Amino acid sequence: MSDITLPKHIAIIMDGNGRWAKKRLMPRTAGHKKGFDTFVNTVETCSDMGIEYLTVYAFSAENWNREQGEVSALMELMSRGITKYTPDLMRRNIRLKLLGDIDRFAEKYRNALRGAEDYLAANTGMTLCICLSYGGRQELVYAFNRLAQQGKTEITAEDISANLYTAGVPDPDLIIRTSGEYRISNFLLWQSAYAEYYFADVFWPDFDEKELQKALDAYTKRERRYGR
Ligand code: IPE
Ligand code: IPE
Ligand code: MG
Repeated sequence: MSDITLPKHIAIIMDGNGRWAKKRLMPRTAGHKKGFDTFVNTVETCSDMGIEYLTVYAFSAENWNREQGEVSALMELMSRGITKYTPDLMRRNIRLKLLGDIDRFAEKYRNALRGAEDYLAANTGMTLCICLSYGGRQELVYAFNRLAQQGKTEITAEDISANLYTAGVPDPDLIIRTSGEYRISNFLLWQSAYAEYYFADVFWPDFDEKELQKALDAYTKRERRYGR
């Protein structure tokens, strides 16, 4: 089922796990755990709806500055979670693309994540991009350095797009941020040039199908003018 009023590419800043947990007097990691379940549900809903690209911001370049315990809990959760979830992604014909400086991850995590990406590489259904150790400025610097190494002396916008982590992925149509924060936090700086933004008040663990539908309804009512 594909609907032309549906965004082709949805990107989500999954924010508010810590506050969700705090409200319940639980450790932050409990919020991340619940947040992972919400991520799985969102992937399934989007793939059922016929969304072509879903990108999620799971761990930013700046998140490395968090407490060591929280960082390792997140690594563990992501790599174990993705590994466990890979057979389902396979059944759903979902392709996985990791965006970010994955080399900063410890070898065991990196291998698990890259293993899943390779295993799902030939799939032709929805593309799921997971931003890990990702920063928009870092991504632009990476692209510019690649262009420099190619010996380019004059670069075009297309050259830049083609050398980002997202090479080959169309720009997002809709960017959602949860938890009532109104900022980009270094997410998809280049790619978001004409994206529609939607801010949800709920914390990420509470972002269910109904909340996603609200975001899609709002998107449908927007008029995208692209300067015309
Ligand atoms: C989002 O939730 C998950 C990550 C950034 C890894 P947070 O951990 O940022 O939760 P809050 O924003 O502190 O509530
Ligand atoms: C943005 O959330 C990054 C992710 C959701 C992975 P943060 O919680 O890290 O962002 P700030 O610190 O509120 O800007
Ligand atoms: Mg946050």
